Amino acid sequence: MFSEYRIHPALLHLLYCLLCSAGEEVVRLQELEGNTVTIHTGLTGVQSDAHILWFYGPENADIKIVNSQIIRGEIITDYYSERLRDRLQLNRTSGSLTIRNISREDSGVYKLHIITGSISVWSFSVDVYAPVSKPVIRNQAEKRSVSLRESCSPLCSVENGKDVSLSWYEEKERISSISSSDSSEHLYLPLNKTNPDCCAYTCVAANPVSNQTTQLNITELCYNSTGRLKSLF
Ligand SMILES: *[C@@H]1O[C@H](CO)[C@@H](O)[C@H](O)[C@H]1NC(C)=O
Ligand SMILES: *[C@@H]1O[C@H](CO)[C@@H](O)[C@H](O)[C@H]1NC(C)=O
Ligand SMILES: *[C@@H]1O[C@H](CO)[C@@H](O)[C@H](O)[C@H]1NC(C)=O
Ligand SMILES: *[C@@H]1O[C@H](CO)[C@@H](O)[C@H](O)[C@H]1NC(C)=O
Ligand SMILES: *[C@@H]1O[C@H](CO)[C@@H](O)[C@H](O)[C@H]1NC(C)=O
Ligand SMILES: *[C@@H]1O[C@H](CO)[C@@H](O)[C@H](O)[C@H]1NC(C)=O
Repeated sequence: MFSEYRIHPALLHLLYCLLCSAGEEVVRLQELEGNTVTIHTGLTGVQSDAHILWFYGPENADIKIVNSQIIRGEIITDYYSERLRDRLQLNRTSGSLTIRNISREDSGVYKLHIITGSISVWSFSVDVYAPVSKPVIRNQAEKRSVSLRESCSPLCSVENGKDVSLSWYEEKERISSISSSDSSEHLYLPLNKTNPDCCAYTCVAANPVSNQTTQLNITELCYNSTGRLKSLF
């Protein structure tokens, strides 16, 4: 009897290749706008006659941006993308690509092909962020009715952006947090808890590459002209 599990070697090879492409590892990079960023390959000694190609695209890496090969003993490196050209630098020893003054428009998928008889492929997903802005704390009660003007309810806000979150900290402990993926222009987070004996309240705005902190000054925000603490909330 034949084994039920016997698979033709060619089919096995096909299956393997489907798996290998499906499982292709994508290295994720998160970078701050304006920085010089090197997409490292981890390689140290790419064969000196290798044909090296870099591709880029916002969704799929389908635009050729770098082509470097040896033609009649001479290294010829072409940078194609008009937008990226003057900011790119290929390192042929490592295959790494350096992008100067990276911008948010440079976010996307970068793919490296190194061809030396066989072809090896690396994929990178690059997210570029603007630095987050500094949060602002104001007394929400001031905008309310006259009867509520004597109370104090600190409200922190910040300009929204990709992956921005806003949090209140009591000393080192995070007590509340908010984020929103919709395109609302600002994030708002009220301070809904105060410990009169406490310490420092800070509001922190953060994205994956930067953060900014504003400290709540209760004296400034919550005392009225006679120097009395307004009731909180
Ligand atoms: C190119 O990469 C190699 C290997 O990582 C490194 O030693 C070398 O300094 C790099 N060259 C430049 C010009 O950055
Ligand atoms: C960096 O790029 C921005 C546009 O993305 C440009 O306004 C700025 O002048 C550039 N800075 C440098 C130092 O090249
Ligand atoms: C404060 O707000 C957070 C979420 O914003 C909520 O989880 C928490 O229960 C609130 N605490 C109080 C005392 O209202
Ligand atoms: C804020 O950024 C600094 C580095 O700039 C980092 O050390 C710190 O952990 C960050 N804080 C928060 C709350 O994300
Ligand atoms: C808080 O605000 C008051 C009044 O504006 C000011 O005198 C004081 O120095 C501030 N405290 C801190 C810790 O910034
Ligand atoms: C200041 O706040 C205290 C406590 O809420 C209140 O009794 C007092 O009338 C306030 N004074 C002024 C001038 O608003």
